[in-house]
Amino acid sequence: MSSPGKQSSRFESIVIPGSLEPTPLESIVWEKLGFSVTVTPFMGGSVAGEDGVYEAPTVVSAGVLRMPPQAGALNYGQALFEGMKARRGVDGRIRLFRVSANAARMASGADRLMLAPPTEDLFRKTVVDVVRANVDYVPPLGKGALYIRPLLVGSGMTLAPAACGETTFVVYVQPVGSYFKGLTCIGVKVEDEHQRAAARGTGWVKAAGNYAPCFQPTKKAKADGFADLLFLDHEGKRVEEVGSANFAMVKGGALYVADSPSILKGITRDSVMRVARERLGVDVVFAPLELARVLGTGDYAAAGPADEAFCMGTAAVISPIGSMRWKGKDYSFGSGAVGPVTTRIYDELDGIQTGRLPDSFGWTEVVS
Ligand code: PLP
Ligand code: COI
Repeated sequence: MSSPGKQSSRFESIVIPGSLEPTPLESIVWEKLGFSVTVTPFMGGSVAGEDGVYEAPTVVSAGVLRMPPQAGALNYGQALFEGMKARRGVDGRIRLFRVSANAARMASGADRLMLAPPTEDLFRKTVVDVVRANVDYVPPLGKGALYIRPLLVGSGMTLAPAACGETTFVVYVQPVGSYFKGLTCIGVKVEDEHQRAAARGTGWVKAAGNYAPCFQPTKKAKADGFADLLFLDHEGKRVEEVGSANFAMVKGGALYVADSPSILKGITRDSVMRVARERLGVDVVFAPLELARVLGTGDYAAAGPADEAFCMGTAAVISPIGSMRWKGKDYSFGSGAVGPVTTRIYDELDGIQTGRLPDSFGWTEVVS
């Protein structure tokens, strides 16, 4: 936080500190947390100019950002984000999960969108400082997590569709509960009409512009009773990902994890594969995944549908998928209840993140 007499940072001049009213802590019902906006008292960030060098990060009272209408982010979508969680552990301590991996993914996306990549040190320091400043908003164990949203925004002015020369890095946090239904099966619809990302496009970047095109078909699917959509590749043959989570299935005891050059390289996906292989002894097939294999159609008709299916992500955690609709027909997986492999993977990851099980991978960092 800036102290009296200290020269203010560029970040402080972009934020209007205190212009967002924090949600009073006493008004939060931890048992009822979902995935909607709660404003916490503090946020942090830093600004880099044309040279791409960030100033030291600052934590300020939550506030709106001053952004010129000519900002690259507003005109041309020069923006991306990350998603992470801080969780209260069985020992009462608060842990972050895989900070380095999130920092690295933000940096590679920044490179693609010509934004200034924050160094891992800057990323970590800002995240840790903002989590510590809002520590009272970390939900109790078993009641959710503090969701961390690092943003990278092209805040400089440009009229030409080209890099705008100034990047604002912002970290805000807020408590969240379940994104879907926790460890309860959801139903998803396979999307035939729209693709999420172009084959050689930027689906692998957590670019802000990848998300808005999903809103319209997803809203329709939700109105029809589905939790989300499963997007396919440009041929409509291979599974890409859910709008906000990667996809996996279990068949004959093996875990099949969908890969594609145009999907997000999920950090939960990577963690799931390592836990499955290295801690549970499960065979992992990490490759493009045909929809026919998931549903048990075409060449896979004799084998039948997957025994288990789930999607995974920071917000989605491990969300079991009990059924899928494709071209008007419903397919269900296993007994319709959460399968044993899904349950074991969930339990391992949850155990690592909360300190209930040893973190043999060195993924967690205690912040408080
Ligand atoms: N796919 C998309 C499109 C996402 O937005 C996310 C969420 O971050 C994921 C997958 C899962 O990624 P991660 O596990 O790193 O959160
Ligand atoms: C996440 O899981 O962190 C995401 O960013 C997904 C979604 C909420 C957009």
